Amino acid sequence: MPDLIVAGNWKMNTTVAEAAVLAAGVRDGAAAVSGVELVLCPPFISLAAVSEAVKGSAVKVGAQNMHFQESGAYTGEVSPGMLQGLCDYVILGHSERRQMFAETDESVNSKIKAAQAAGLKPILCVGETLQEREAGKASDVISGQIRAGLEGNGNTTGLVVAYEPIWAIGTGQSATPETAVEIMGGAILETLRSLHGAAADGISLLYGGSMNAGNAGEYAAQACIHGGLVGGAALQADSFLQVAAAVAAAKA
Ligand code: 13P
Repeated sequence: MPDLIVAGNWKMNTTVAEAAVLAAGVRDGAAAVSGVELVLCPPFISLAAVSEAVKGSAVKVGAQNMHFQESGAYTGEVSPGMLQGLCDYVILGHSERRQMFAETDESVNSKIKAAQAAGLKPILCVGETLQEREAGKASDVISGQIRAGLEGNGNTTGLVVAYEPIWAIGTGQSATPETAVEIMGGAILETLRSLHGAAADGISLLYGGSMNAGNAGEYAAQACIHGGLVGGAALQADSFLQVAAAVAAAKA
């Protein structure tokens, strides 16, 4: 079975001081959750403080984005080399970056290769809009995003894929486990297998979109779901740890 992972995407929340407190809270409760890798993804400016706070524990750190170039005239951007030593994971292609910051499949593709070259584990995010779902295009959209994001890249090292239906993010309207399985065990796994053969079955697949302590277990009870990418419920140590505990219990 692929690694079980529960990652918290803090988005544009927490000051550096608040991030350190939240990270310490997760660190202090992490020992009670076994068998699940916990990943905290704070804003860039808090990566150092969070990585310091979790030092010596099993809790891992991730960035929320990254540029694919190593250096240069890219005002406001952060390179793979700058993240080395500060985090192990990097979220790439989140729908908020695709929708609000003109992230394209092509740039996501370059970023995944650059992350792997820097020894970072990319969390590739894919997801359809409500309009696409209602038009019956969800599976096609998702396979297209996976293919384009991974085209010309035979390397699955560290790769994690997160399915985050856009209509489920921050809305409280989580996808039913059946809907998640239809996409994750269907379009996502099939596309990964067609690209990577048997290696596809070693890739951790995370669900994201209004995941919380109450519904996490229902997702993790599905064979093709190996954890979650959590937004709102990751902003408090207790609720984040409860999500992780529910995932651990469902897989035990
Ligand atoms: P919510 O859990 O707040 O719906 O956010 C999900 C998400 O976008 C995680 O990346």
